[in-house]
Amino acid sequence: MIAPDAFVHETAILDPGCRIASGAKVWHFCHVRSGASIGRDVSLARDVYVDADVPIGDASRVQNGVSIYRGVVVGRCCFIGPHTIFTNDVVPRVGIRSWEVVPTTIEDGASLGAGVIVRCGVTVGAFALVGTGSVVTRDVPAFHMVHGLPARPRQRICACGKTQSPLEWPLGGVLNCCHENLLPEVLAVALAEERRALRRAA
Ligand SMILES: CC(C)(COP(=O)(O)OP(=O)(O)OC[C@H]1O[C@@H](n2cnc3c(N)ncnc32)[C@H](O)[C@@H]1OP(=O)(O)O)[C@@H](O)C(=O)NCCC(=O)NCCS
Ligand SMILES: [Zn+2]
Repeated sequence: MIAPDAFVHETAILDPGCRIASGAKVWHFCHVRSGASIGRDVSLARDVYVDADVPIGDASRVQNGVSIYRGVVVGRCCFIGPHTIFTNDVVPRVGIRSWEVVPTTIEDGASLGAGVIVRCGVTVGAFALVGTGSVVTRDVPAFHMVHGLPARPRQRICACGKTQSPLEWPLGGVLNCCHENLLPEVLAVALAEERRALRRAA
């Protein structure tokens, strides 16, 4: 189902049974497979491939040249930087009799910088930020900035990204800067995720 007010460029390929929600934009040469669900106001930039059954949450932005394979779940308000690489098999081999997709979750508000590589089986926590070119091999905690090869936590980071603090400090996911900088709908998501992160830490 394609919402009447979604924009789909004439060069994009939409397989039968994919869902494109209201306000979404699907730009040049994208391919969205059956069962994939593109949420409200999502933007898929040039050359994005969304595999079968992959959900992309409302208001997320996927930049040029990203392939999102089966088993990956992208939450709301996520930023997936250009040429990010996802995977869905830890030990890839041709000719294996049974093969299971290994899942990966990108939680609400998380941002992946350009050229990040995500090994499958991990969760990138809410409003986490992964630096350019990093290789994510382990779970990334919510409201943390990670980078490097392998990506390791370097600082805590607030929901709007303006304020970093040392890892030893208590979690402060939503700060005054976030109230100033974030659109109300994203702020609401951030406050909910902050509550969830605090409950988990307690
Ligand atoms: C991770 C990031 C947010 C950190 O920014 P920052 O807090 O301003 O960090 P700094 O530039 O002060 O760097 C601090 C240290 O971390 C290192 N560093 C920063 N980002 C890094 C990365 N992605 N990989 C490896 N090391 C990194 C710096 O070299 C520096 O090391 P040094 O102290 O030994 O010189 C930023 O570097 C980044 O990668 N942003 C994403 C950009 C992007 O891909 N945008 C996509 C849209 S175009
Ligand atoms: Zn902030």
